[in-house]
Amino acid sequence: MRHILTSLIITLLSINIAVAATGDAEAGKTKSATCAGCHGANGIGISDTFPNLAGQHADYIVVQLNAFKSGERENSLMYSMAAGLSEQDMADLAAYFSALPRNGASQDTSATEASTSAATKAPTAYVPDPAAGKSLFELGDPSRNIASCIGCHGSEGNSKVLIYPNLANQHPEYIATQLMNFKNKDRINYAMNQFAGNMTNNEIADMAAYFADTAAVANVVSRRVTPSAPVTTEVIAGKTKAATCTACHGADGNSLVAIYPKLAGQHADYLVKQLQEFKSGARENAVMGPMASALSEQDMVEIASYFAAQKIIVADLEGSNIGKRLYLGGDAKRKITACVACHGVNGKGSGKAGFPVIAGQNEAYLKAQLMQFKNGERYNDYNSMMRSVASKLSASDMDELAKYMASMK
Ligand code: HEC
Ligand code: HEC
Ligand code: HEC
Ligand code: HEC
Repeated sequence: MRHILTSLIITLLSINIAVAATGDAEAGKTKSATCAGCHGANGIGISDTFPNLAGQHADYIVVQLNAFKSGERENSLMYSMAAGLSEQDMADLAAYFSALPRNGASQDTSATEASTSAATKAPTAYVPDPAAGKSLFELGDPSRNIASCIGCHGSEGNSKVLIYPNLANQHPEYIATQLMNFKNKDRINYAMNQFAGNMTNNEIADMAAYFADTAAVANVVSRRVTPSAPVTTEVIAGKTKAATCTACHGADGNSLVAIYPKLAGQHADYLVKQLQEFKSGARENAVMGPMASALSEQDMVEIASYFAAQKIIVADLEGSNIGKRLYLGGDAKRKITACVACHGVNGKGSGKAGFPVIAGQNEAYLKAQLMQFKNGERYNDYNSMMRSVASKLSASDMDELAKYMASMK
């Protein structure tokens, strides 16, 4: 986990979104004549080796062109193409390609042929399994340091964050090639080297098969929705023991008092950690310290299981667009890591990784925690993960973020 997070942070901080020039799509169209030979007149690569550019994020295209030009991303074909491009050329080309419809893929016969041949080629005995690819895409495998791909590339590969490429409608073979490149470190990106490096060749084939299977991609019913937890003996025992907590945290863990956190639907491991730390003093709080001191380890596990099994109730709130942008995109200039990297697109965090659910939490509580991390009053975050992010947030950032997170469902 330590490695994955360090590399995540390094990646996120080292990405420079700054797009110096404003692109002109018309000018880009003219300039794109040289690109069409490989990437297609409609931005759909003419064969599996040439990525689709149609509908890709403009920011991402500019970043990649710069990387090819500087040699940071090594590819001799693209080096020769990008070497002669000015910042303005890049911005124009990016504006042009990003505006093209991404579904061009299905109208393009060569692309269809290509993916059919990819599906039938099967060089080895292994038959790729799109369902396994989909599962790895959505859930990752924390035990092997493979993050959920959704966190950055979005549901079904439709990335909401401009610096993370869309994968939806990309050639499956290109996806497989790039994952192999990341795995072999022929293409350098801290996060992707880590994730692809931990994927087996069969898993890479599964991932490509998932993207080749348009039906599977189009009809995804996200399995990230946590199924309601089974009612175990722990949950039942926890309910009785939680009686003392309900005055502040609500009968079902949905606290109605803004300064008391909701506990409903929070990851059980996270709740146990907090209770242990209130008890030991690693998280200081005058109210919770004495409450937790009275609990045994077994009590903590049972109470946490009970609250984790309750459903969080979130009212319809206005939210905040400013907060949303910061949450999803961070701020490269101020070196603010995007919250999405750890707390997820839906704000559901990850139980195994120790990232709490923040979606639908009480706004006043969220704001108070960010402030406490910033001024060091709360310091129980492993590796200073939250303190280093919060230290860069202004009071108004915190207001907007808390507003957004409280509205997430
Ligand atoms: C001779 C064929 C060829 C031409 C012409 C060409 N490209 Fe490429 N392009 C490639 C190949 C091959 C790759 C994949 C490189 C790799 O495997 O890393 C690529 C990759 C890219 C990528 C990265 C896409 C991604 O999803 O990461 C961008 C952006 C791009 N090209 C833009 C352009 C632009 C703009 C032009 C015209 C100025 C152009 N290319 C002309 C062959 C070409
Ligand atoms: C922490 C965010 C993050 C996560 C999680 C993540 N990626 Fe990526 N991915 C990126 C970034 C950033 C790039 C672009 C790298 C670059 O600039 O060269 C990328 C690039 C890619 C590309 C190349 C796309 C192209 O157009 O060239 C593929 C394929 C890919 N990722 C697949 C995956 C898969 C599969 C997973 C899950 C196992 C995953 N990614 C998880 C951030 C992430
Ligand atoms: C008198 C009111 C009160 C009672 C009773 C109470 N709590 Fe709390 N609880 C709080 C407050 C206030 C906080 C926020 C502390 C802070 O700001 O760090 C909190 C925070 C927590 C947190 C941390 C949540 C998070 O998202 O990090 C947990 C877990 C928790 N309480 C569990 C319990 C349990 C279990 C009980 C019963 C044994 C209980 N509380 C009883 C007021 C109360
Ligand atoms: C590198 C991973 C990482 C990033 C990035 C990150 N967080 Fe966190 N966050 C954590 C961890 C881990 C915790 C729990 C710490 C603990 O164990 O007490 C946490 C806790 C929190 C809490 C307290 C939740 C509670 O119930 O008490 C809030 C609020 C929060 N994060 C908001 C944010 C916001 C807003 C951002 C973006 C500006 C952000 N986080 C970015 C990892 C991260």
